[in-house]
Amino acid sequence: MAIVTITDENRTLNDQEAIADYLAKIGIDYNRWDSLQQIASNAPAEEILAAYSSEIEALKAQGGYVTADVIDVNSQTPGLDVMLAKFNREHWHDEDEVRFIIHGRGVFHIHPQQGPVVAIEVEAGDLIRVPRGTWHWFNLCETREIRAIRLFQDPAGWAPNYTESGVDAGFQPMCFGASYFPSQSAINQR
Ligand SMILES: [Fe+2]
Repeated sequence: MAIVTITDENRTLNDQEAIADYLAKIGIDYNRWDSLQQIASNAPAEEILAAYSSEIEALKAQGGYVTADVIDVNSQTPGLDVMLAKFNREHWHDEDEVRFIIHGRGVFHIHPQQGPVVAIEVEAGDLIRVPRGTWHWFNLCETREIRAIRLFQDPAGWAPNYTESGVDAGFQPMCFGASYFPSQSAINQR
């Protein structure tokens, strides 16, 4: 499950429905694909794409995506820092950014036209769609690895256009992980 943090409002969301509702209001689609456990997260890319073919086809039909692939980065990936530095500054694309997380963790920061910046920490099973033109940036969590299905309307359009707003400098790429939240019983005792 994702963890959504709205720092300016001192709010954190970790309930699927609450997350999906909040993100929908700022134009971000969030969902979970529950067939994750049917395939190993380290399976070859072709097997991953085959396992999720019906979900991928549905998304293609819905969003006009024409291709899907699996991106796989970890601390051993050559040029990782250069790659990450392209996307950890506020930018937008002429193309939707659609990611289904297979393995690893990362944080999308979304800067809506109206309203506060929202951090979305994603993990395995999370599907996120950041529409074209949305101002955002991305960081990996501490383990510096992520494996995700990507969908493209046109891969050529998926290049960062930097806003140079400086807003990104005000937010730390905090990753909490599942252990961040107290148990439900602890919450109920408050
Ligand atoms: Fe991006």
